[in-house]
Amino acid sequence: MGYAAQDSARVVTREMRRGLSSPAYNCAISPFSCTLSPHWTLAPLPRAAAMDRFSGSPRLMIVSDLDHTMVDHHDEENASLLRFNALWESEYRHDSLLVFSTGRSPTLYKQLRREKPLLTPDITIMSVGTEIAYGEAMAVDEGWEEYLNRGWDRNIVVQETARFPQLSLQPETEQRPHKVSFYVQEGDAEAVTRALLLSLENHGLDVKIIYSGGQDLDVLAKGAGKGQALAYLLNKLKASGRAPLNTLACGDSGNDAELFTVPDVHGVMVKNAQKELLQWYADNGRSNPKLVHASGRCAAGIIEAIGHFNLGPNLSPRDVAELCAEAQKKSSFSPGLEIVKLYVLYERWLRGEEDSSRLAHVLKDICYPSGSMVYPSGGERSFEEALYGLKGGEVAEDRGRRVWVDRLSLSEICADSWLAKFHKWESYSGGERRGCVVTALLRAKPESARGFELVHLHQTWLDGCAASGAAWVF
Ligand code: GLC
Ligand code: MG
Repeated sequence: MGYAAQDSARVVTREMRRGLSSPAYNCAISPFSCTLSPHWTLAPLPRAAAMDRFSGSPRLMIVSDLDHTMVDHHDEENASLLRFNALWESEYRHDSLLVFSTGRSPTLYKQLRREKPLLTPDITIMSVGTEIAYGEAMAVDEGWEEYLNRGWDRNIVVQETARFPQLSLQPETEQRPHKVSFYVQEGDAEAVTRALLLSLENHGLDVKIIYSGGQDLDVLAKGAGKGQALAYLLNKLKASGRAPLNTLACGDSGNDAELFTVPDVHGVMVKNAQKELLQWYADNGRSNPKLVHASGRCAAGIIEAIGHFNLGPNLSPRDVAELCAEAQKKSSFSPGLEIVKLYVLYERWLRGEEDSSRLAHVLKDICYPSGSMVYPSGGERSFEEALYGLKGGEVAEDRGRRVWVDRLSLSEICADSWLAKFHKWESYSGGERRGCVVTALLRAKPESARGFELVHLHQTWLDGCAASGAAWVF
């Protein structure tokens, strides 16, 4: 077990000061490791944690930063993010947990979700580990907030930081109950951090100061931070008998360093990691065999790390060039994988990368002859009619079109039949996007070309998506 909270806080402050006065220190990351606190109240996980889709321990828990880790802001195509999405939904969603851990406030996090094709995580850690929320509904972890209140006085932080002209306040949305955030020039960060720690200590206040991205300085409640939030979460999962078999933390900047100090956690720093994180790695991380610096940027680095640490499958259906090929005869099929493959193929066709007749051929193999699909508008067509529409070229080719599956859940309704429920999203070149809830009935058919058949497909618009006029083919 770790130190008591007060002891650990003292350790953090003392070590931070030691670190700051060392000549090797050139960024404001403390060399402390995450500790357990006896002051955490480990209330049961809320139902909203979306974890009732499986029982027992998650096979893998991925805890990923967003900006420049899961999301590559230099890739307008979102290629590696979509590769990760397809891998997650096809291989992991049914028995694993996805956690996003971002510096962004809830406001900016929601904005990013509108801009980028992000999956829905099971748990969201926001504002540099000061806010934890569960499920799609984002139910707030109040126990965490109460814990952070201990020894924290936001007013003193605001008052003392105002004395530093080198600090300029970040936008109002990023000022949170347990986080006060600034911009600071790289050259000033170290001196300001040192002086600020001293002046706050003189007021009897122990805080955590984190420098990220060569520009952001966050003053946090002392028990906060991405690593501490993860340690808390792991402890909470353990207390409910649901500790993950493996955890992989993923990051690129200073505020992610803490994630890599949580015991028993694998870590990946993506290729494009920031200078301050690489410096922290050189000073503190090199001896940790569970931490790797990937050769792939952003989500490509995450996929690479899954393979590097042998945490499970890491071939994304998007990496398979030939999706039209018939399956080897298999005794079982994976409904999640087949659904994701189907929509990747569909996207390729919409983008003009796959031939209509080849897609039609696959669908003909898959679709149960007297099966049907219900469109989000309510109309129903037999699969045969739908296929005819494909050949008739009802949609214009759009090279910017994207299709992705989110929140896939499966239930085996009888021995060889599965009900799959998921959200299907389509986005267009102009950035507009629409989504619907899809329910699909699939049945194993070992003697057929692809080992299964699609019996029925039912789609309903997600809120706010119905008004759009563009054609919806499949
Ligand atoms: C995000 C937050 C910002 C914070 C930074 C680094 O960009 O919006 O407030 O300073 O992450 O943690
Ligand atoms: Mg980042």
